[in-house]
Amino acid sequence: MLRRDVFNIRGVILWLSLSRGLCDQIVYPIVGTLFVHELDTEYFQQQFPSVKNNYDVDSTDPIVYRANLEGFPDLPRWLRYTQRSPSHKAYFYGSPTDPGKQVIEVTATNRQTFETVQRKVIFIIRPSTVMQIPFQAEFLIRNLDVEELLPAEAQLDFQTPLQDVWESQKMTVLNITSALDKGGRVPLPLPGHKEGVYIKVGSDAPFSKCLQESQDVQTRKSCETGVLPAISCHEEFARQFHIDWCNVSLITYVEPTPVQPPLDGSGIMDDGSEFNPPSESLEETYYLTDYLLTLLLPLLIALLLCAILSYIMCCRREGIEKRDAETSVIQLVHQQSVFANTEELRHMADNRNVPRPLSTLPMFNVRTGERISPRQTSEDSARVPLILSQH
Ligand SMILES: *[C@@H]1O[C@H](CO)[C@@H](O)[C@H](O)[C@H]1NC(C)=O
Ligand SMILES: *[C@@H]1O[C@H](CO)[C@@H](O)[C@H](O)[C@H]1NC(C)=O
Repeated sequence: MLRRDVFNIRGVILWLSLSRGLCDQIVYPIVGTLFVHELDTEYFQQQFPSVKNNYDVDSTDPIVYRANLEGFPDLPRWLRYTQRSPSHKAYFYGSPTDPGKQVIEVTATNRQTFETVQRKVIFIIRPSTVMQIPFQAEFLIRNLDVEELLPAEAQLDFQTPLQDVWESQKMTVLNITSALDKGGRVPLPLPGHKEGVYIKVGSDAPFSKCLQESQDVQTRKSCETGVLPAISCHEEFARQFHIDWCNVSLITYVEPTPVQPPLDGSGIMDDGSEFNPPSESLEETYYLTDYLLTLLLPLLIALLLCAILSYIMCCRREGIEKRDAETSVIQLVHQQSVFANTEELRHMADNRNVPRPLSTLPMFNVRTGERISPRQTSEDSARVPLILSQH
């Protein structure tokens, strides 16, 4: 009888766990603002079948998680997941960039029993109600790991001195990033060696003098030489947070001035009204001089040129003819003299009784001065070499 009761109770629990399943969790991040979601270790702990059936609620087995965007192997770009070790808390954190709905599947594995349970976390990302925060500062805290700054209390601890330094009460944490994600180096696994974490804070108030000191030429110089810069508000944080003043970045977003709509001039007509052209021109202008200058003057010059040309062509023709006649007479005289000279030369050549130069005669032997009739040797020269035939 007792055994049957126990069996029944077990059966009921099993049925309950099957029918209930794991309910989805809904979270509401806001675009552009830091969002941190701590995974509910206790909840997952309770869901492992062995824990349920053993009523062993108090035991906390180490759990590891794996998370991915539903239907994809990895998380969305903006969302990061971190858990230092299976016995530590696990966090989702990041700063969403676009509104919308994203379903994240979280699979928890019990490291003792290797049971797994799965749960969906639904992210309903809402658009930001405020415009861009105009003044944003990013600090690198060297003595913390990212998980240590994710709990809200830790962020408050940091904001309290910052509010004094910044002289502003209203602050929003915009982003938290592990220094490892920004190219930092993995620290030695020794106590006191932390990876470092970047925290970005925004406010409406302009940066105070102290914050601006971090951007000074002097600070930059000592950073370059490796000397710790002297910042006046360093002490405010020094107890808890080791801020790297060389890695502070201050960003100012200037709101774009709204574009002025074009101003209407006086000449715009009302709807339905008619256009009345002005009855009298404002000023009478005479274009006569312009007309004369642009049209008549060139015309006159053209006419003048025409007249001069006609005069030269018609009336001065005589002169040209006369000159022509003069030149032809000169040419005639010249031609006659050439002719006479040629005649004279020919005559002189006829009278010359000198033999023709030897070199112009055929087959003249240079050495002997002998003349050979070309016909005489023509038959031999076909057979005898040219040099022998010359003897
Ligand atoms: C938050 O920081 C991460 C890592 O540096 C960066 O990729 C991301 O763009 C930042 N998000 C916003 C909204 O600034
Ligand atoms: C800090 O900033 C300097 C330059 O300003 C850079 O070289 C260095 O890598 C930064 N350190 C870290 C941990 O990001």
